[in-house]
This record gives sequence, C-alpha cells and structure tokens, in this order.
Amino acid sequence: MIVLGIETSCDETACAIVQDGRKLLCTVVASQMEEHANYGGVVPELASRRHVELLIPVIRQALAEANLTLKDITAIGVTNRPGLLGALLVGVTAAKALGQALGIPVIPVHHIEAHLYANFITHPEMEFPATALVVSGGHTDLFDIESHGVYRLLGRTRDDAAGEAFDKCARLMGLPYPGGPSIQEAAKLGDPKAIAFPRALMPGTHAFSFSGLKTAVKYALAKPDCPPVPDIAASFQAAVVDVLVRKTIAAAKECGRSTVVLAGGVAANASLKQAMEVACSRRGMRCYIPPPSLCTDNAAMIATTASFHYLHRPIPGLDFAVIPSEPLSSHAE
Ligand code: KG4
Ligand code: ZN
Repeated sequence: MIVLGIETSCDETACAIVQDGRKLLCTVVASQMEEHANYGGVVPELASRRHVELLIPVIRQALAEANLTLKDITAIGVTNRPGLLGALLVGVTAAKALGQALGIPVIPVHHIEAHLYANFITHPEMEFPATALVVSGGHTDLFDIESHGVYRLLGRTRDDAAGEAFDKCARLMGLPYPGGPSIQEAAKLGDPKAIAFPRALMPGTHAFSFSGLKTAVKYALAKPDCPPVPDIAASFQAAVVDVLVRKTIAAAKECGRSTVVLAGGVAANASLKQAMEVACSRRGMRCYIPPPSLCTDNAAMIATTASFHYLHRPIPGLDFAVIPSEPLSSHAE
C-alpha cells in the first residue's frame, strides 16, 4: 500500500509518500513563508496562487525522491478541511484529477486529525486512549481520544490560538514571522523569570485564552524601563508553556489517561517539548511528540492518516467538499 499525501491548507505546498501507513518514503515541503513574511502573516490569495505554481513540481520531486512513478500509487490522501478555501481547493482539485486519471481512491483528510497522526510515523507503538493537545497557528484544542476516530473535544481557545499568540507577540517584539521559531531563538538569550506574565489557567474549564497575555506583552514593551526583547520572549514562552502543560496534565488526570499526545506547529517548540516530557514522566505518563519537521505542516501526516482510513473506513466518492472550518469530530462507525 503506497499512499501519496497532498497538503495545501495554508502556506506550505507539500507532498509525501508513505508505504504501509508508517514508512515515510519521502516528504517534500515548499514553504511560502518568506513571501508572506513581507506582509507579517499569510495572505490567502497569494497562498492559493503559489500552490498552483508549486504543487506539480512538488509532486514530481516527491515521486523522484521515492524513485516511484504515479502508477505505483495505491491511493491519494488530501487535506480537504479546515483551512483557507482557495488554498485547499488547489490541493483537492489536483488530488481528484490524479485519482480520476489513475483510477485510484482519493481520501479526504481532516488537517487536525492528521497533525495527531503524525505521531504514528515516528512512534508506531503509540496507542489510544490518550489525552491530546493540538497547538497550531489556528488551533489550541484539547481532546480526549478513546480509540482511533473517537474524539471528544474537552476545550479550545476562546480567543487566539497558541501559535497565533506566538506570531502576534513576535510582531509586537519586532521579531520576524513566523513568530514561534523567532521567539524560541530570542528566548535562548533571555531570562524566563524576568517578567511574571499572567497565566490564564481558568480552573474548572479546559478552555484556553491567550489574549490577556498578548496585552500584557504589549504593556511590558511600552514601559520606559522595558527589559530587553530576549527577556520578554523567554518570559512569554514560559507563560504559554506553563499553561499548555498544566492544562494538558490536568485533563489527562481527569480523564484517567496515562498517555499524552502533542501535535501541531507549536509542538515543535523545544521548551514545550521538554516541559511536557518532564511533567509526564513525573506522573508516570507516556508522552508522544513528533519531531519538529512533522509538527509543522507537512504531507507525511496526511498520507499516514489517509492510509489508516484506506484500511479501516469507507472510501468516499470523488464528490467530497472543501470545508474552510470544521471541528474535528468522531468518525461515524
Ligand atoms: O501546524 P502549523 O504548521 O500550521 C497550522 O496548521 O496552523 O502551525 C504553525 C504555527 C505558527 O503559529 C508558528 O509560529 C508555530 O506554529 N510554530 C512554533 C514553532 N514552530 C512553529 N511555535 C513555537 N515554537 C516553535 N518552534
Ligand atoms: Zn497545521
């Protein structure tokens, strides 16, 4: 079973090929980050146009790297939700055209489920049930996962997503887009205890909120005796990590789970990884986090998820829709 994955939901044009669900034969990611950096964030129309230009060369490169031809592909997986409408359409239209021409199934994949499944590429031994946190540019979602495809959303952000908070606060600090990696880099030279930024723990709920922290960063920067940017970056990062770790552990305890799964672009953060691993090992919990290249958007996670669906779920026809916004919900049995 050789599955080709396509991902175009935001500003990465990506294609990857996975064998038998887990074995990564190649992964190609063409990032548009530098172009969008000029505007301080993703420009949807620009993203769609670049996907049109980049997708076929990216697919060709993936096939060449895996030393395969289109005839070797068993099925195609493609992100069809959630994401930027125009951007998603490019990947989905290409996938449907290829599927039709080759006479093979095309499997629509939910981007958030794929972020979670990225863990299976490097941790094939991972098993559900688990408590899972997806932290990306658009999502901060905490789930209880009973088994494959059975998701219960415990809580999500009420305002900014964790990645969005990194991006917006980096901008306030004068650091380049994307903010996550810039803040992580600046924080290396700073003191995480320099400023005691607020932690919105919101006891009694599994919801998150990062807008108060953003305002606190803004005020700190406006003060005449403002500490250096590395101190602000380190203190901001410590506040976000603290909230994410504490709330995830609290949810795992409440649900009686001994496995914690982390996913999404912010899971690439070294400080978050370290803090979550320490917190889990103290409580005898297993902790799974993909390597940074599989945390940020990629198509390996799409191909792996599609492989699972190909084996275990009904395959839809080619008339499936492109959906800009849809929460991850359980699959119908
Ligand atoms: O999952 P992702 O690549 O795209 C979405 O689905 O949104 O996540 C992108 C987000 C951006 O907000 C970016 O700043 C953040 O992930 N990010 C990080 C790091 N690398 C990427 N945040 C914190 N630390 C990082 N090292
Ligand atoms: Zn993503």
